[in-house]
Amino acid sequence: MLNIGIIGAGRIGKVHTQSIVNYVRGARVAAVADPFITPETESWAKGLGITAVTKDYKDILADSSIGAVLICSSTDTHSPISLEAIAAGKHVFCEKPIDHDIGRIHEVLAALQAPAAKGLKYMVGFNRRFDHNFRAVRAAVTGGSVGKVELVKVTSRDPEPPSAEYAARSGGIFLDMTIHDFDMVRYLSGQEVTEVFVHPAVLVDPAIGAAGDVDSAVVSLRLESGALAVIDNCRRCAYGYDQRAEVFGSLGAALCGNDANSNAQVWGANGTVGEKPLFFFLERYMQAYATEVTEFLEAVEKDTPVPVTAEDGLQAVRIGIAAKKSAKEGRPVQLSEIA
Ligand SMILES: NC(=O)c1ccc[n+]([C@@H]2O[C@H](COP(=O)([O-])OP(=O)(O)OC[C@H]3O[C@@H](n4cnc5c(N)ncnc54)[C@H](O)[C@@H]3O)[C@@H](O)[C@H]2O)c1
Repeated sequence: MLNIGIIGAGRIGKVHTQSIVNYVRGARVAAVADPFITPETESWAKGLGITAVTKDYKDILADSSIGAVLICSSTDTHSPISLEAIAAGKHVFCEKPIDHDIGRIHEVLAALQAPAAKGLKYMVGFNRRFDHNFRAVRAAVTGGSVGKVELVKVTSRDPEPPSAEYAARSGGIFLDMTIHDFDMVRYLSGQEVTEVFVHPAVLVDPAIGAAGDVDSAVVSLRLESGALAVIDNCRRCAYGYDQRAEVFGSLGAALCGNDANSNAQVWGANGTVGEKPLFFFLERYMQAYATEVTEFLEAVEKDTPVPVTAEDGLQAVRIGIAAKKSAKEGRPVQLSEIA
């Protein structure tokens, strides 16, 4: 039985904990750490049979009975806790992004190369790779149905905007939200991005603009084969969480739409009405989160490669930094400019 420690018991920490409790056999959540743990979170943990609840993640790292940790704390803690967890000999699942700073991500990559880290698994939480729709599109691409990839299109719109305060400390839309779409472009095309050109806009909430961020963007990307990609983002979408993708190529296209609670429609004299897309990421990606954590724990158990590596985490952040630079300087930015 593999004992797991959860570091950070906020929204996503609770999702992963619940997935392990509900779906994973051969592993158990042994402890949860969060410096701002509330009585509600403590009783939630106890309700799941988790009795070790601590304010200090170092208690988890010092516990030799715990083999793996899930780092689900705030973004600024990811790389320092990753380094400590690797040094403590734990397998690590780290939520995206590893860090906003490329130098600190390289420190994590270097720590994983050290002889002492041999055999340790390190996976990054790009959950959309585990969504059944995107996986089917990827399978069509790798299976050859699309032919030579010429264009990837990703639509990614949140149902409602975050607060301006959140926008100010999130690292900006490209490192907070679009980072998932950058990873999707790499995942669906199987290619690296070589150039990024952003058209940013504040169309939803001027307070987000005043906080130094944007709430809308069209991002054009060039891929290593010369193929193109385009991402459209908005922080507000009246009909819910809009998550669609298409890969177009020499033989055809593979595309996927949104998920809804049902595909039932009501037909009447004035038109037809169907269900809106599932509300937001916690609704849309519950299956993906469960598959993601299950595959991480399988890689640990079977000593096989993790499906999303630290290198994948690095590349998505590099594209995000290139996008920020493009938005600021109003020009296409080569990935080679980002060290
Ligand atoms: N992959 C995804 O779909 C996805 C979705 C949401 C969030 N995230 C990522 O997960 C991280 C957490 O996001 P969230 O929405 O759950 O935020 P949240 O604010 O709900 O939770 C973060 C938790 O971390 C705790 N924390 C802060 N410092 C800590 C420390 N030193 N040790 C232990 N716990 C600590 C906070 O008290 C809080 O409870 C972010 O980095 C975010 O980018 C990923």
